Amino acid sequence: MNIPKFGEVGEDHLQLTCSGENREIASGRLRCGNGAHRIGRSAFRFGAMPMNSRAATTIPSVRLVSPRAFHAKMWFAWRNEPRAQRFMPIESWSVSALKRRLMASKPDLTDHDKQEHRWIVQWGAESVGIVSILRPVFRQGYAEISYHLGETHQGRGIGTESVTQLVDHVFEQTEIARIFAFISVGNRASRALAEKLGFVHEGTLRDHFIIRGRRVDQCVYGLLRKEWKRPR
Ligand SMILES: CC(C)(COP(=O)(O)OP(=O)(O)OC[C@H]1O[C@@H](n2cnc3c(N)ncnc32)[C@H](O)[C@@H]1OP(=O)(O)O)[C@@H](O)C(=O)NCCC(=O)NCCS
Repeated sequence: MNIPKFGEVGEDHLQLTCSGENREIASGRLRCGNGAHRIGRSAFRFGAMPMNSRAATTIPSVRLVSPRAFHAKMWFAWRNEPRAQRFMPIESWSVSALKRRLMASKPDLTDHDKQEHRWIVQWGAESVGIVSILRPVFRQGYAEISYHLGETHQGRGIGTESVTQLVDHVFEQTEIARIFAFISVGNRASRALAEKLGFVHEGTLRDHFIIRGRRVDQCVYGLLRKEWKRPR
């Protein structure tokens, strides 16, 4: 796989160096260059690379791809991790039930009857999470989103970039005018991500979901098409 290489690495910038075949991928990346930039800075913040490194560094790109049957096992594992269990209303589904659900939710935003559209988050060659559009109501122009990464890949900016690409996709491919998410009140990472992308905390639904046997308040975060700006 061709992954563009970053040359100059500064405190607050990354400069892309690429040539030939890589240029096309690099321009794709530049479209989501903020995400790449974000991943770079996060990686430094989270200690994956030294801040003063000037060596050429390969940083995988984030892509959303259609799910395949083998992703069901990964989804099963992600759903059973402690943070997901703590913050999301996750029911126990077997791998085979998840496989059927996943295959039925291959994304097709032209199908207005479909209730779930899911994409796998690819980070370089690795499948690291899942993002979804849930219960879109095209007549009214709104849809819920959901996002979830495996724990080993959290805190590196991949969530921010994945949701940015998801929102871009929805606003570019459909007439949907409003996207919203339910976020458990104590889920700081998810709330920070939503706020960073310009979602507005519109209110809190008290005791809305049952999570691990307890009712948990859910913040409703909404983003309007006319407000959407890719993060810098
Ligand atoms: C929520 C989730 C998708 C965020 O993705 P991520 O890649 O970990 O988040 P990012 O690295 O892009 O960080 C996004 C923002 O959240 C902040 N953040 C990340 N982890 C945090 C934490 N544990 N506490 C507080 N803030 C946190 C980051 O600092 C960043 O903000 P900043 O750039 O202004 O500093 C991911 O943590 C996850 O999958 N969690 C488990 C499932 C879940 O809760 N899904 C959401 C359901 S609503």
